[in-house]
Amino acid sequence: MSSEKVYIFDTTLRDGEQSPGATMNTEEKKRLARQLDSLGVDVIEAGFPAASEGDFEAVREIANIVEHAQIAALCRATDADIDRGWDAIKGAKYPRIHTFLATSDIHMRHKLGMSREEVIAAVKKAVSRARGYTHNVEFSAEDASRSDWEFLRQVVETAIEAGATTINIPDTVGYAQPEEFADLIRYLRESVKNIDKAVISVHCHNDLGLATANTLAALRAGARQVEVTLCGIGERAGNAALEEVVMALHVRESYYGLKTDIKKEILYPACRLLSMIIGMPIPAYKAIIGGNAFAHEAGIHQHGIIQNRLTYEIMTPQSIGRPPSELVLGKHSGRHACKQQLDSLGYKLSPEQLELVFEAVKRLADKKKQIFLEDLEALVLEEVYRIPDKYKLKYLCSISGNMAIPTATLKMEVDGHDEQISEFGVGPVDAVFNAISKLVGRHPKLLRFSINAITGGTDAQGEVTVKLEESSKTAIGRGSDPDIIVASAKAYINALNRLARKQEDKVWARV
Ligand code: KIV
Ligand code: ZN
Repeated sequence: MSSEKVYIFDTTLRDGEQSPGATMNTEEKKRLARQLDSLGVDVIEAGFPAASEGDFEAVREIANIVEHAQIAALCRATDADIDRGWDAIKGAKYPRIHTFLATSDIHMRHKLGMSREEVIAAVKKAVSRARGYTHNVEFSAEDASRSDWEFLRQVVETAIEAGATTINIPDTVGYAQPEEFADLIRYLRESVKNIDKAVISVHCHNDLGLATANTLAALRAGARQVEVTLCGIGERAGNAALEEVVMALHVRESYYGLKTDIKKEILYPACRLLSMIIGMPIPAYKAIIGGNAFAHEAGIHQHGIIQNRLTYEIMTPQSIGRPPSELVLGKHSGRHACKQQLDSLGYKLSPEQLELVFEAVKRLADKKKQIFLEDLEALVLEEVYRIPDKYKLKYLCSISGNMAIPTATLKMEVDGHDEQISEFGVGPVDAVFNAISKLVGRHPKLLRFSINAITGGTDAQGEVTVKLEESSKTAIGRGSDPDIIVASAKAYINALNRLARKQEDKVWARV
């Protein structure tokens, strides 16, 4: 029997981007949207256009560049949000309006101050307004898993009657348990009289670590769209992870009888791209994509693996696009080899961007003998996907040691003008951060500093992540370089640029 299709609705750029520290700029969002499109997701939720001018612009630009996937805009159930949402996505090949309203007693009473009757009327009005723009309308009953089932039935029936073609049942606070959630989906399939006119979707949060389990249970009960994010990022403990749901359906296809159109062999590069953009490393123990997911430490396991990989491996690293860390480029590699490797990673660069990366490869090859795929990815992010910055590092000299006072001398470009400074610190990184913050006249609090070697070897590039806080806004910055002090400076400046942009982007609303 052939497997039935499950629609993958990716909300990395909306729910995922709402997760603390995962803010992306428009260029980064566009890059990720292209990658999601190549990955084969069916719907990309590009953002919440009514949230701010910046969110609107990012959704509009994504809508204009994505070739295959549908582009959804999240809108509250108000005329203003729906009009604004439509304005942002009307240039998309396949636009979708996604409107939502809470249906649980606790949300209706304390958040909305609305009665059940008022909620039903608002759902009808919002979905009808959205239908005036497009036939592709999704309605979400926020906090559905804590809603009264009979009332939820009425809301869903109303939304479908008004023209919704997808009905999303979120477990907004990650409260549901797998069997209970599956029962709710079955109840709706059996009791909503017009349910055959809509696809049932689920959107599960991970507060109790059950997002993937609840999503899969709902699919067994008849849901056919899942709302997921790369690496499971999202509000609080996150959303169901795209790679987990997709690989569970794939590895256990005979159990589920379901399939997706995801190109599994680029799952890992897609997750890695996200992690590099938001500056959060993938935890080693993360299912499917973590550094340890295919590592075998225990002697008995290693023995089994040597005899037959199937003893301890239910999928291969290659099936999700994890190449063995191989040398890819060196000092004598040409432009053509560089382009080939970038193509294999799924990067489609213009000739000018390719030239930038190629020049950076040559600079790196002078310092480091072997350049690996991970190094190449880091260079693409440094050279191509960095937004035009307010602050740029031009030169850095750092002195440290057990007989020296750590000192940093640096030159930076600030809004197009060169400025230089020297400062001391308790260590070289402290000296660099003191110098930068004095030069730019900002004194953010350093909340986090972490450093990873991108590859093995003492000449590996260091990848530094910092988290800064200023005027109750936070931003994460990333920088890589074979010199960890330079990498630290780049990361600090990257975070300052993000903070500056956040302060410029006026926020109008939050989901
Ligand atoms: O978690 C949630 O309920 C949501 C909705 C807006 C779909 O993110
Ligand atoms: Zn959510």
